[in-house]
Amino acid sequence: MRTPLDHFLLTSFALCGLLRLARFNITTDSVPKDANGKAKYFEGLPTPTSLGIVSLISYWVSQGWIHDQIPFGVFAEGSILEFHPAALIFVAHGCLMISKTFHVPKP
Ligand SMILES: *[C@@H]1O[C@H](CO)[C@@H](O)[C@H](O)[C@H]1NC(C)=O
Repeated sequence: MRTPLDHFLLTSFALCGLLRLARFNITTDSVPKDANGKAKYFEGLPTPTSLGIVSLISYWVSQGWIHDQIPFGVFAEGSILEFHPAALIFVAHGCLMISKTFHVPKP
């Protein structure tokens, strides 16, 4: 995933991770708490869930699905808009991390 648009999409994921951590830092006091003072939910997908993507890509690599064989192929090959749709997995995950309305109950 090395086209300019891939780089843009993957960078946005990293920036979403930074935003998520920064927001956690300043909003953690305003999330509703239970009787013991423990937050009831995570606001946005917690950043460590990104390990799920790492697992997925590890599997792809173990299957040899790299370079030309990345799942979902290439979009607009040869054009300025060329990118790998697999990068959208990162974008979707990034959006869920910074979502204010997506709540994950704490175990
Ligand atoms: C937020 O960041 C400041 C500065 O690094 C730190 O002192 C504070 O403990 C952090 N708060 C939380 C809830 O992580």
